[in-house]
Amino acid sequence: MTPITYQNISLKPYNTFGIDVKARYLCLYEKPSDLQHFITKGPLLRDVEMIILGGGSNQLFTRDFEGVIIHPVNKNIKVISEDADYVCVKADAGVTWDNLVAYAVENNWGGIENLSDIPGDVGASAVQNIGAYGVEAKDCILEVNLVSFADASTRTLLNAECQFDYRSSIFKNKFRNRYLIDSVTFKLTKKHKFITHYGSVSEELKKFDALNLKNIRQAIINIRSSKLPNPKEIGNGGSFFKNPLVSEYLLEKLRNDYPEIPSYPATNDMVKLAAGWLIEQCGLKGYMNPKQTAGIHDKQALVIVNKGNASGMEIVDVARLVQNKVYEKFDVCLEPEVIIN
Ligand code: EPU
Repeated sequence: MTPITYQNISLKPYNTFGIDVKARYLCLYEKPSDLQHFITKGPLLRDVEMIILGGGSNQLFTRDFEGVIIHPVNKNIKVISEDADYVCVKADAGVTWDNLVAYAVENNWGGIENLSDIPGDVGASAVQNIGAYGVEAKDCILEVNLVSFADASTRTLLNAECQFDYRSSIFKNKFRNRYLIDSVTFKLTKKHKFITHYGSVSEELKKFDALNLKNIRQAIINIRSSKLPNPKEIGNGGSFFKNPLVSEYLLEKLRNDYPEIPSYPATNDMVKLAAGWLIEQCGLKGYMNPKQTAGIHDKQALVIVNKGNASGMEIVDVARLVQNKVYEKFDVCLEPEVIIN
């Protein structure tokens, strides 16, 4: 069957900021032969700009997009191997991330429960190496199954080859727009190692009668929904900025003025600061732009929100204001986690 391609379609339902821009082509991907079709007979036949769009929870559109958007809609999850300790689950790129987490938890398979309630699709979990509450997707990814944009051939990349890093991977860099992620295989545990040390997780878990995957998932959902806006109600893309890496030297300097500044050890003599804290110290938590269309979430300063029909540029203006204020006050550059198009 010929894969579905839309022309001049609104992307509003396809991005969690809820920005209303149009795409020249939107191609729905289900299987490698679909990509073959787009390359040899469809809009990818010509040399055009391209974006691979998953759940759209990390993309900010600032203009109509004149090129081709490839949107994976494959949604199978299957067990490919299993023993007494582990189960390997292959999930298609188009599976909603939290549906995979729910499925794993229902089956009592551990590893991704701390990543409950993160918006987006399975494909992006590998691209972004999504992370929360002491766990990153890379901790459970066994391999990533790819299709080439050159000739629609398939290949598999093992975890160690994916160059996973903080919110980064080879798919964001060298392999960007060279390969499409078709599916991701996760190695989940039957013998669990619960990770509950991060932030308020252990505190929240005291409200439950037992320590198990189901309760950890619920505790995480409770924490997230108390701080993070639901994109179905208020457009947003989760953390807008990455937590910045700075030198020990700068941290020491900042500590003189701000002894309570949160910091976390990182690699190569660098430390990670909490961008949300820096933004809050600039007095920007709950900020709203003069047009009242975009601002900063009042419960988590790392999240920029669409308060009502904001344009992508209005969101970018809020982001620039945040970057400028944080730089002036702390001498720290904030880098967006969200991809701006
Ligand atoms: N903080 C403030 N004010 C704020 C927000 C945070 O002072 O408005 C302080 C907190 O009190 C804490 C520190 O900053 O001392 C860190 O805050 P938190 O633990 O809430 O996490 P975060 O750094 O704001 C990161 C991830 C989130 C993830 C949480 C929990 C990044 C960019 N963000 O946020 O990921 O859910 O940790 O693990 O790494 C996402 O990527 O979209 C995302 C939501």
